[in-house]
Amino acid sequence: MLAGMSQWLTLSRAAHLLGISRVALQKRIRDGELPSFDGMVDAADLLRSWPQLDLEDSGSFEKTRAIREDAFARRLRERVLPSQEALAQRLFTQGQELAELQRTLTRYHALFEALRARLDAAPAPAMEDLARLLDEGLARAISEPVAGADAAALDAMLRVMSAHVTVKPSGREFFVEGSETLLKAALRAGLSPNYGCGNGNCGLCKARVVSGEARTVAPSDYLFSEAEKAQNHVLMCTCTALSSDLVLEVLEADAPEDIPEQRIVAKVRRIDALSADVMRVHLQTPRSSRLRFLAGQRVTLGIRAGVRDGSDVHGEFPVASCPCDDRNLIFHISRGDRRAASADFSRCVFDDWIKVGDDVSVWGPWGSFVLEKASVRPLVFVAVDDGFAPVNSLIEHAIAVDAAEAITLYWASAQPGGQYLPNQCRAWAEALDEFSYRPLATDELPAALAADPALAYSEVYLAGAAAVVEPLAAALLAAGVPAAQIHVEGL
Ligand code: FES
Repeated sequence: MLAGMSQWLTLSRAAHLLGISRVALQKRIRDGELPSFDGMVDAADLLRSWPQLDLEDSGSFEKTRAIREDAFARRLRERVLPSQEALAQRLFTQGQELAELQRTLTRYHALFEALRARLDAAPAPAMEDLARLLDEGLARAISEPVAGADAAALDAMLRVMSAHVTVKPSGREFFVEGSETLLKAALRAGLSPNYGCGNGNCGLCKARVVSGEARTVAPSDYLFSEAEKAQNHVLMCTCTALSSDLVLEVLEADAPEDIPEQRIVAKVRRIDALSADVMRVHLQTPRSSRLRFLAGQRVTLGIRAGVRDGSDVHGEFPVASCPCDDRNLIFHISRGDRRAASADFSRCVFDDWIKVGDDVSVWGPWGSFVLEKASVRPLVFVAVDDGFAPVNSLIEHAIAVDAAEAITLYWASAQPGGQYLPNQCRAWAEALDEFSYRPLATDELPAALAADPALAYSEVYLAGAAAVVEPLAAALLAAGVPAAQIHVEGL
């Protein structure tokens, strides 16, 4: 490689390499700390900005690893390798690129030799200067290390270990680790592709391969039409990426109305107390019928007749977990739930009427308390007591999709220490530079929000008892925060 040649990386590859969010990288570019050209950054500039880009020693890498389980060193340690076929294919592609580069260098070399011979043959003293310049330039090119070569080498390794997928028409991107399916990788990255059964039967997760190669890794009963085969359609739930780069045309859900109503029977996997007044209920769906929902939405939970006094008991609760794990659904159930219609279900949880292994009907999802997909504003979440449940789902999703350059969480409680998952909130704040956590008492909340100038240009999400959050929303509106930026949980 000649000195001075640039090693360009896309923003997502650079962020993946560093183990930081894409928005953090974009902020450095906007602040003038990192040059970029046409959506790419030079590996040498990256090394200058992050001189600690030595994977195991990188502070930012280590911090973010706790949040993003797919970070580079962890994958290496756990040896989550792609299949032999994918490895062979990707190495072959890199080998081809390397061979092409070698051919180019050979041609440059031949050109150099021819030029040098002509200069030797020319008698003029000016030609001697030119010959010396060429010789010295070549000696430097061969002896000096190439700036950014380390980052480029790491990037080349990443390209073998994980495939980069670009989704059309949205332009969203995600990485496929090991031999995971395209659907699993897309959900993990916070995307909302269309899908149903998750196991190759319904055909709802169909996607068209625009470029690159995908390979089937799980059996499927779905039959493609001849036209679909000719257009390179694949099932995202049964295929993985074979090539390092893949472009897919995918149908994505952009709004709550794009998600169909579903009815599923899930099993209770675990119930544990988060505090004296809040229980965490973990439900797991069957493999073949997972719950498709958007972060922040709620569902109806029901217990079959006969569990309690021979009658059905229902309740409507926000899902507290991220849609990226569509089989494991977490709920935070409060004692004497503030929503009257859900109080009976809550009693069943606190009175031990619901036990591990029981069936619970889940239907939904409902509600439009979801992230504004098109917005790039900072995110402010205001949770009051168990209003933290949908906020938890929204924050996990926002982190997965790099949705914002700054996230602030106000969590207010009427009870001292009523923030029942404080360690998790502190872990977010410690792991992510752009995250700030402010626990406070409910009566401190109006003054704290009034004193926060960032609210005027942020998307503000409020969740909790209507008696508390509705006056807060009205106060924000009166203070000049545009109505379109204020989102209130619908219960
Ligand atoms: S989700 Fe049903 S076939 Fe993929």
